[in-house]
Amino acid sequence: MFKSRSQPIQSSEITDESVWRARRRLFLQAPGALALAAGLPGLAQAVPVGQALSFNPSQRWKLDETPTSEADVTTYNNFYEFGTGKEDPSRQSGQFKTEPWTVQVDGLVHKPLTLDMDQILKLAPLEERIYRLRCVEAWSMVVPWVGYSLSALLKQASPMGSARFVRFETAAEPETMPGLRSRILDWPYVEALRLDEAMHPLTLLATGLYGKSLPVQNGAPVRLIVPWKYGFKSAKSLVRITLTDTMPESSWMKVAPHEYGFYANVNPDVPHPRWSQATERVIGSGFFATKKATLPFNGYAEDVASLYANMDLRRYY
Ligand code: MTE
Repeated sequence: MFKSRSQPIQSSEITDESVWRARRRLFLQAPGALALAAGLPGLAQAVPVGQALSFNPSQRWKLDETPTSEADVTTYNNFYEFGTGKEDPSRQSGQFKTEPWTVQVDGLVHKPLTLDMDQILKLAPLEERIYRLRCVEAWSMVVPWVGYSLSALLKQASPMGSARFVRFETAAEPETMPGLRSRILDWPYVEALRLDEAMHPLTLLATGLYGKSLPVQNGAPVRLIVPWKYGFKSAKSLVRITLTDTMPESSWMKVAPHEYGFYANVNPDVPHPRWSQATERVIGSGFFATKKATLPFNGYAEDVASLYANMDLRRYY
């Protein structure tokens, strides 16, 4: 059932990581769990915020690191539509409605689509992938996301040969998103990828974290996760996906073009104009803990560096 989040989450409500791991083991051992996890037709439901999801752990993308606690992942957020403070999204998103929800896929596609959440959840088997999300503000988290490769959805729409970019538009509901009263960004929040980046199997269409459907503050009901790029590319609460032949202008490019480029690949050698990107603070490790050295492409170079062969990533930041 949908739970209002106008009040801060109580620590008693938060699933402890060990409980989550035990629950996951139980689920995976349960008879029929694999059939469920395989996402057999008719089993997926349009689940409200915070409901358990059926998924398979990814064999390929599971960082062998302890995930950041669920409490930190869900209370230390950037979601400017709900305010610019890190705790604003968890405190101020209680009125936001995620049901009913549709995502439109249009532009240079042979088969434009409008999908509801039930259709999105049934489109491909859900997987749990443990990815690091590294924010341009030089902090990072390790999160057990649930979802599937965005390519599965894009293929359904059958991209035209002329499509080169994908534009992501997210929800802008002034009644329930108090942050929209500020003109800090030009709403709605827009991000974009090159088509080959969007089709890369690492690019995740996420519907959950920690085994449950996404909380609003993390981008309910469906968001993007592009783990080799700074976190701002990972647009939350998607409503429209448009294939284009020209490079779309993202919200951050519009507001500060000298600071935020189209590519936004994690590159420790290129500082942000106002701070270094060489290291990152790992959320949950304590403010005075030693910072972690940031890796090129956030540690995913082996998977994605070839997408940028012959490109000067200092110029195309
Ligand atoms: N999506 C929307 N719609 N609005 C936002 O303000 N912030 C981005 C990204 N997606 C943002 C967004 C930034 S700056 C980051 S670092 C990540 O979301 C944070 O995701 P998280 O809160 O789930 O860690």
